[in-house]
Amino acid sequence: ASQEFCDARMDYSVVGCGGSDSTSQRILIKGGTVVNAHHQQVADVFIDNGIVTDVKPNIKVSDEVTIVDATGKFVMPGGIDPHTHLEFEFMGTETIDDFFSGQAAALAGGTTMHIDFVIPVNGSLSSGFKAYVEKAKKSCMDYGFHMAITKWDDTVAREMEIMVKEKGINSFKFFLAYKGALMINDELLLEGLKKCKSVGALAMVHAENGDAVFEGQKRMIELGITGPEGHALSRPPLLEAEATARAIRLAGFVNTPLYVVHVMSVEAMEEIAKARQSGQRVVGEPVASGLVLDDSGLWDPDFYTAAKFVMSPPIRAAGHGKALQAALSTGVLQLVGTDHCTFNSTQKAFGIDDFRKIPNGVNGIEERMHLVWDTMVASGKISVTDYVRITSTECARIFNIYPKKGAILPGSDADIIILNPNSSFQISSNSHHSRSDTNVYEGWIGKGKVEITIAGGRIVWENNELKVKRGSGKYIKMPPFSYVFDGIEKADASYISSLRAPVNRFKGMQ
Ligand code: URP
Ligand code: ZN
Ligand code: ZN
Ligand code: ZN
Repeated sequence: ASQEFCDARMDYSVVGCGGSDSTSQRILIKGGTVVNAHHQQVADVFIDNGIVTDVKPNIKVSDEVTIVDATGKFVMPGGIDPHTHLEFEFMGTETIDDFFSGQAAALAGGTTMHIDFVIPVNGSLSSGFKAYVEKAKKSCMDYGFHMAITKWDDTVAREMEIMVKEKGINSFKFFLAYKGALMINDELLLEGLKKCKSVGALAMVHAENGDAVFEGQKRMIELGITGPEGHALSRPPLLEAEATARAIRLAGFVNTPLYVVHVMSVEAMEEIAKARQSGQRVVGEPVASGLVLDDSGLWDPDFYTAAKFVMSPPIRAAGHGKALQAALSTGVLQLVGTDHCTFNSTQKAFGIDDFRKIPNGVNGIEERMHLVWDTMVASGKISVTDYVRITSTECARIFNIYPKKGAILPGSDADIIILNPNSSFQISSNSHHSRSDTNVYEGWIGKGKVEITIAGGRIVWENNELKVKRGSGKYIKMPPFSYVFDGIEKADASYISSLRAPVNRFKGMQ
């Protein structure tokens, strides 16, 4: 079999090796329902050299073109996962999926691009960026980077500018949790928000009150609650809501857009709803686990079963997921991520005597597209066009890479999935493509199946077989000042004149 399509590692199998064609293919997808966020129609899609060149009914092509029959199926933009952690050094260990295995899993589930979080090295953004460029060399699909900000000084401020102007990063994440590790204080958050605004980068927050979480953890240990359920009990929705509200208010004070990652509770969602209702620019990202799971797994008497569900903010009690789905379907929340951050059973066991040491994170990069289809489209909660919007298009728009990504239009990258609504999918750690030995969606059977994934103009997933190529993924630079910034300066001008008006009046009286 052709080596370039294979992963030689024994712990990870990529089946269907032997593809001889490493160059991109000319493909005609025939007769499917082509769905974009704004419109759907029965049409053919012609792909040439990695790009969509035509979308219309009855396209005629020559013999050497690969024909894919999509009759009765949906032809949609590949998923874009706005929130992943591949090869992430965290809590004394490193996530088990790297830029190859994580992306292979993504492609098998219909996701063709992801945005990962670069973590600075000792606070240095440039060192962090360099490290992630190295990690991502094994990529088999396109990817972009957000960057975390973990300390503040003039160098960090200067480097933020370099990252935006030269390195293709247009978003920075601030952790209000993980005290003693990634957590920052309000002073740093304010500096960061101001800098983000000036360079046109989107500020993202992990919204939990880290000081209060620390207190909650102490309380649990004092009560003798050391198991995985203590994780959820120590950081209730109240603390997520407080941090969400605080970040929203500070972003409002600076008048810069805010993106709240992994919205897990009704309380946090309601803070976002309230802010949006008042006209503030706040984007809310629920993740697959928060939408479709509940906290019952955390109470499993078997440590390993319970520990696999440990992530932050915690997966909440039944009811939160349904409310988050409703918020997504009505536009209160805008796009779905995964926070794919996988640790295997051996790694989760670091916290067997103390939940504070269980590495935080769950899988989802392979499952997101199927889970959202099954729980929201197959159940009738949203339309197919809305599905495309929340899994792909809105992410591309927010991070300013639309319509290169997130659309099937002439000129768009040929990142496309073909989903059969009459077929079904099944999730198991025995058949998934992540390197993890567990799956938080174990045993899930649902409607709708991604039968074909095309990434960069090549068929990479077909007949349940992956044909991925190490090193074929491209880094996608994301330019600053996406649409969420439109008009911000006008609001600033009217704010300033509203401050001056009473001052001038006062001067006139003297
Ligand atoms: O538990 C989680 N969410 N792990 C990944 C790091 C983060 O906070 O996004
Ligand atoms: Zn092979
Ligand atoms: Zn986070
Ligand atoms: Zn995360």
